[in-house]
Amino acid sequence: MLLPETPDSLPALSQADAARREVSPTLDPKQRSKLGQFMTPAPIANFMAGMFDHLPETVRLLDAGAGVGSLTAAFVREAIARKQGPRSLDVTTFEVDSVLGQHLAETLAACARECEEAGVALTSRIIPEDYILHAAAPLLSEHSAPEQYDCAILNPPYAKINTGSKARKALSSMGIETTNLYTAFVAAALAQLKPGGQLVAITPRSFCNGPYFEPFRRFMLEHSALRKIHVYESRKQAFKDDEVLQENIIYQLIKSQPQAAAVRISLSHSPQDLDATARDVPFAEVVLSSDPHVFIRLPVSKEDGDLAQRVRALPCALRDLGVAVSTGRVVDFRARDHLRKDPEPGSVPLIYPGHFDGGYVSWPKPSARKPNALVSNAETAALMVPRGTYVLTKRFSSKEEKRRLVAAVYDPGRIDSDLVGFENHLNYFHSSGKGLPGDLALGLALFLNSTAVDQYFRQFSGHTQVNATDLRNLHYPAVRQLEEAGGHFGETLPDQERIDEIVEALL
Ligand SMILES: C[S@@+](CC[C@H](N)C(=O)[O-])C[C@H]1O[C@@H](n2cnc3c(N)ncnc32)[C@H](O)[C@@H]1O
Repeated sequence: MLLPETPDSLPALSQADAARREVSPTLDPKQRSKLGQFMTPAPIANFMAGMFDHLPETVRLLDAGAGVGSLTAAFVREAIARKQGPRSLDVTTFEVDSVLGQHLAETLAACARECEEAGVALTSRIIPEDYILHAAAPLLSEHSAPEQYDCAILNPPYAKINTGSKARKALSSMGIETTNLYTAFVAAALAQLKPGGQLVAITPRSFCNGPYFEPFRRFMLEHSALRKIHVYESRKQAFKDDEVLQENIIYQLIKSQPQAAAVRISLSHSPQDLDATARDVPFAEVVLSSDPHVFIRLPVSKEDGDLAQRVRALPCALRDLGVAVSTGRVVDFRARDHLRKDPEPGSVPLIYPGHFDGGYVSWPKPSARKPNALVSNAETAALMVPRGTYVLTKRFSSKEEKRRLVAAVYDPGRIDSDLVGFENHLNYFHSSGKGLPGDLALGLALFLNSTAVDQYFRQFSGHTQVNATDLRNLHYPAVRQLEEAGGHFGETLPDQERIDEIVEALL
């Protein structure tokens, strides 16, 4: 007869998962968001533990920001199950929240029971301190022993680090320049690994291309080899209990190892989907040697890889077209006194994403919640650009929107004004601050609205934000090709199928 499982006899991971479900809804929302308390469900924790390569006989494990201990529990389970697993484990966890710390202590006790049954020695500790400050401390003393762990398993907190904060200073002392806690945790953990040590982390994908993450990308690639990356197709699936909508990826890094020629990139629909597909992608296609911003690209499928090659074979960089891209200069809350709901004498058009309509900017929009106009005066002069044809793209798409890249043409033939203001949620393509030739602008908008470019874009951008740097980093057809394509753009944008046909021919 099977005995009912009591909390004491539950495997550590089941116990941690039960604690996660019990405690998550009770956490104070403010504290939760400040400390990034979104805990890993058991299937993902298991998957992460399985990403470690061969484990040495004795493993010193780090779990920084351990929550209720799901990741450690999954690691222990994996280590015990392996045929040639470790004989002893020494686990160091960091957790600042005392409530979670109590559950963590119970998980570690369950890990100890599991290890004892399996004949594996386990020692563990909880350090109830700020991991970043703690990691920096030995580096600041004379007796530093920073490289101490064989393995690190992380689901770090996501939150901004303020300039001037203690954490920021501590990170600088470690040679790490980053503005988000999650990259800070990964960088600090890498610094604390022994050479050859392995790190497996689940984090937002934003570090792969965000301009602010460039120093982190460089740090990561300089100190480790990128071995494996796993992507969940469905953005909502990984942390669906917690309604986390960030696109997350899981990756394995090996400290101080030369980068191998290929990176294994795998994809599954969700943690429940066991049909992961995987392929070995040349590292040269993941980080392009020509890329000044070292974006990490994820050409997940073979089709992605082929598309990337075709887009990269396009002949021009943006500057070759004589075109530049900038972010809209009107930050509306800073210009509050100068905003007008409707146009009035002495004001100029103010364009928001809400003015996009069938591939063109349609202005004014009397029913819009946002203002339609900006008063023209000495204070606002620097926020405007002169009359001309501009291509605009949205900087943020909503989660539901199918496309990341959405472009529209600002046509002075439709909006009669000597000046115009573009709001900060837009990027605008221009030529030395002035408008573009009409056909070129139309062709550019058509190109940016194609499915192929949107798909390519997704390979290096996992979030709904489109940075000007991302647009600068794209490859473009030649001026003549764009002008020709622009000829297909009538009173409205052609339908998607037609756009794709035209752009396919350019690729
Ligand atoms: C994203 S949660 C993940 C928890 C756990 N690793 C998991 O996967 O379920 C991050 C955890 O880090 C903790 N935390 C936040 N800031 C921290 C800091 N500076 N030092 C140590 N822990 C921290 C939070 O309380 C939270 O439990």
